[in-house]
Amino acid sequence: MYSTLLIAHSLLRWLVVLSLLYSIYRGWLGSSRQIAFTKADNSLRHWTATIAHIQLMLGIVLYTQSPMVKFYFTDYEDTSGEALFFGIIHIILMLAAIVIITIGSAKAKRQSTDSQKFRTMLTYFGIGLLIIFVAIPWPFSPLAHRPLMRY
Ligand code: HEM
Repeated sequence: MYSTLLIAHSLLRWLVVLSLLYSIYRGWLGSSRQIAFTKADNSLRHWTATIAHIQLMLGIVLYTQSPMVKFYFTDYEDTSGEALFFGIIHIILMLAAIVIITIGSAKAKRQSTDSQKFRTMLTYFGIGLLIIFVAIPWPFSPLAHRPLMRY
């Protein structure tokens, strides 16, 4: 159960990052040129937020199973390094990012003009991606490192 969840959570990270990157690109294109916010852009907005929500659900279940998190909550002597990262930093930053993405998605949907929709998507998803980028344990991250791919 734990290793399957970890593999799924690790792989889904790529879908989270790629969907955000593409939404940000469309947001930038649409707000710098006068183009229509199409049905496809609306689906992109919706699915990008949904993929982030699925990752959140997986993360919450993983949080209850992870030996690293258990270690953080049981070994009070050593609440630093990777245990601190997965016990607190990762969850707080990811929650903040997903809240920002959710607000941005809802706001973009309700904007009255197409260029406002694009700009809202660009701003909120951009901030969300920045936070997610910092909170992912990339192999080059100074906070904690994990492989780029698990299978
Ligand atoms: C967009 C949101 C998120 C992304 C992109 C993301 C990404 C990742 C990545 C890449 C890893 C490393 C996986 C590996 O070891 O190969 C990881 C680990 C982990 N994530 Fe997330 N995560 C997100 C949200 C969350 C949330 C919201 C939680 C908790 C509620 C969470 C809990 C965990 C835990 C507990 C681990 C590590 C477990 C371990 O090593 O035992 N994640 N996450």
